[in-house]
Amino acid sequence: MQFFYSLNLVLLFAAAVAARPKIAARQSTTAITIDITKKYQTMDGFGFSEAFQRANVIVNLPAQQQREILNLLFNTTSGAGMTILRNGIGSSPDSSSDHMNSIQPKNPGSPTATPNYVWDGKDSGQLFVSEEAWKYGVRTFYANSWSAPGYMKTNGNENNGGYLCGVSGQKCKSGDWRQAYANYLVKLVQFYQNEGVTITHLGFLNEPEFREKTKNLISPSYAGMLSSGAQAADFIKVLAPTIAAANLSTTIACCDSEGWANQGTMTAQIKSASAESLISTVTSHSYTSSPGNPLSTSRRVWQTENADLNGAWQTAFYSNGGAGEGMRWASLIHTAVVNANCSAYLYWIGVQTGATNSKLISVSGSTYSVSKRLWAFGQFARSARPGSVRVGVSGGSGLQTSAYLNTDGKLAVVVINTGSGAVNAAITVSGGFKANSTLGFLTDNSHDMSVLTVSVGNAGVISGQIPGRSMASFVISE
Ligand SMILES: *[C@@H]1O[C@H](CO)[C@@H](O)[C@H](O)[C@H]1NC(C)=O
Ligand SMILES: *[C@@H]1O[C@H](CO)[C@@H](O)[C@H](O)[C@H]1NC(C)=O
Ligand SMILES: *[C@@H]1O[C@H](CO)[C@@H](O)[C@H](O)[C@H]1NC(C)=O
Ligand SMILES: *[C@@H]1O[C@H](CO)[C@@H](O)[C@H](O)[C@H]1NC(C)=O
Repeated sequence: MQFFYSLNLVLLFAAAVAARPKIAARQSTTAITIDITKKYQTMDGFGFSEAFQRANVIVNLPAQQQREILNLLFNTTSGAGMTILRNGIGSSPDSSSDHMNSIQPKNPGSPTATPNYVWDGKDSGQLFVSEEAWKYGVRTFYANSWSAPGYMKTNGNENNGGYLCGVSGQKCKSGDWRQAYANYLVKLVQFYQNEGVTITHLGFLNEPEFREKTKNLISPSYAGMLSSGAQAADFIKVLAPTIAAANLSTTIACCDSEGWANQGTMTAQIKSASAESLISTVTSHSYTSSPGNPLSTSRRVWQTENADLNGAWQTAFYSNGGAGEGMRWASLIHTAVVNANCSAYLYWIGVQTGATNSKLISVSGSTYSVSKRLWAFGQFARSARPGSVRVGVSGGSGLQTSAYLNTDGKLAVVVINTGSGAVNAAITVSGGFKANSTLGFLTDNSHDMSVLTVSVGNAGVISGQIPGRSMASFVISE
């Protein structure tokens, strides 16, 4: 009894505290209208990569920390609920340093020689992370090759640029390796299939225009391969029938350009070469130009890599507007999805060691630190689930609001309040959706997708107070 009595007192006190924001409500109530009949792109999800042996950082953790980190990444109730994993396809003859080893480390002799594939059951730690992600319900796996093995290329090296032998304008004495490279990529997909992980998206280029300005425009010294859009189309025309002949459901993604502008150029060249219909997804990074406008394509568009690569490790949601802060990443994702029609947004690395913001979670020995960037991703990933459709938003002056109608019938609304003052949001849904109940989640400097008090009032108006410098999501049921 004593317990219940004091609990009642606590509840009374809590109610009194909770009532206080109503005073502030008179000062600013912001109306937001969601129109579920206005439908935009279908969402595929949110994610990251563990390429270049970063996956081994997770593999090598003690069991408890490993589980905690996997929950932080993939759990849909206690973590960020990420839904896409981007794996690197290896081209290296060895696993030294951070090399991703190839499934055919030795040249079989010629493009038409019988291949000698080898599967080590690890794939630089990525198979483990993929299988774990699968257990949490992840079903979108993007296997992305940075380069063909060196013996298939004009420069005989997986590093330092070079082209795939046989694409337009790139002849090699050893012959045309396009079919051998297509077979190789399909074999990788089959190795994963045998392990129980379905690769849904297959890419064969990474930053194919990248030449380092600081080094006299020389291609980077790690795995990479040059390509124009026309040359990419040459290969797509070989890869698509190879996938079909193997009866795989895998689809082709292209071209992971360094930036939006170049990906626009490459996409136009792929269209001119009549290869657009052979790919499912146009992929681009955000380093040299950002996703501010939709690319001209009928395909899905994904932002597949971005990060604050060099900034010192930052865990805050908001501090002074720095490049690694969670709120900045929330806005970048919002802009890519709402202004550039992106169906997916991926950070560069999920978990890694080191002192920069190139990852979402930083590991040091057996301890780790979680950035608010992870929770900014989580607010989107747990709202816009795979297959959801982005729907119309109006009002919400001063806020960044997006909304998604999920395949389970739930409507999710993500609101970013970059201002310093709290906002009382009043959300009305038009188009025949009868809001009945809602969950609320909050991320700011002191919350990690914590429960936010929200409610459905008379006439189905959904309300909640969104603190300054925070983001909130509402998951609304009929
Ligand atoms: C947005 O993408 C979808 C496909 O996901 C497409 O149907 C639609 O036309 C695109 N909108 C614009 C403005 O490009
Ligand atoms: C996700 O987290 C919840 C809460 O901690 C836990 O009960 C559940 O088992 C986790 N899910 C998985 C797949 O581990
Ligand atoms: C693909 O499926 C077709 C039709 O079911 C079948 O005839 C063919 O043998 C299959 N090919 C492979 C490589 O499994
Ligand atoms: C609203 O939700 C409650 C609790 O989940 C449920 O019992 C009720 O049937 C719902 N009302 C309508 C009109 O669907």
